[in-house]
Amino acid sequence: MAFLELRQIDFSYPGGRPAVLSGVNLALNREGISAIIGPNGCGKTTLTKIMLGILRPTSGEVLLEGRSVQEYTLAQIGRRIGYVFQNPEQQLFSSTVAEEIGFGLSYRSEDPAVIRERVEFLLDYFELSPYRQVFPLHLSYGEKQRLAIAAVLANEPEFLILDEPTVGLDACRKELLAAHLHKVARLGRGMVLVSHDTAFVNRMANRVIALEKGRVQRDSGLEGNVGHES
Ligand SMILES: Nc1ncnc2c1ncn2[C@@H]1O[C@H](COP(=O)(O)OP(=O)(O)OP(=O)(O)O)[C@@H](O)[C@H]1O
Ligand SMILES: [Mg+2]
Repeated sequence: MAFLELRQIDFSYPGGRPAVLSGVNLALNREGISAIIGPNGCGKTTLTKIMLGILRPTSGEVLLEGRSVQEYTLAQIGRRIGYVFQNPEQQLFSSTVAEEIGFGLSYRSEDPAVIRERVEFLLDYFELSPYRQVFPLHLSYGEKQRLAIAAVLANEPEFLILDEPTVGLDACRKELLAAHLHKVARLGRGMVLVSHDTAFVNRMANRVIALEKGRVQRDSGLEGNVGHES
């Protein structure tokens, strides 16, 4: 059974705008790294929000391990699927960098020693140690991006969706991110990367899904790479 399955998803934002997604079918396994690529405005972010149940499709259904995502609360989905927003500011809310990374673990009442250790590891790994007491919104864009990623990874979710994770990262930090995500993938966790960064996609993904005008135009995970346009 697929971990996440999208069946015949159509989506329009309210207000009678044209459809953003039309007839999208996608099955994602629990393991492996898939990339969603496509031009600006083709619906990539919208699609990831539908996967998470943040947005409800106009028609079609989303299944998480065979059950409709509507049967789960957003909190239940959030505990299983880590989501890095396209704009890191959308997910930073703590008063210090260290608290931001430890928030999910404290919320789940993990052992304080485990929390400290994991927070220290991620602060160091993502080169945020000097900023541990800084207010997250005062960081530079690249630092915010690394913090948003570190905070999501701290919770060790079983599946990850990262929307444009390399924007704002220099070559050296992209390298660190790639190494860490490969490590996470080797632990058997799956992920979806939404990215315009072709080099990053090519080195990371074992499946590439190309969206265009709200439809899957190409999916290297399907035999024959059949397009869906009629
Ligand atoms: N909240 C919203 N209300 C109305 N329209 C929206 C909203 N969010 C996005 N859209 C529109 O939906 C379409 C798809 O947007 P989306 O953000 O999913 O694209 P994207 O592929 O992620 O683009 P980018 O590569 O620029 O991040 C765009 O035309 C956008 O203007
Ligand atoms: Mg987007």
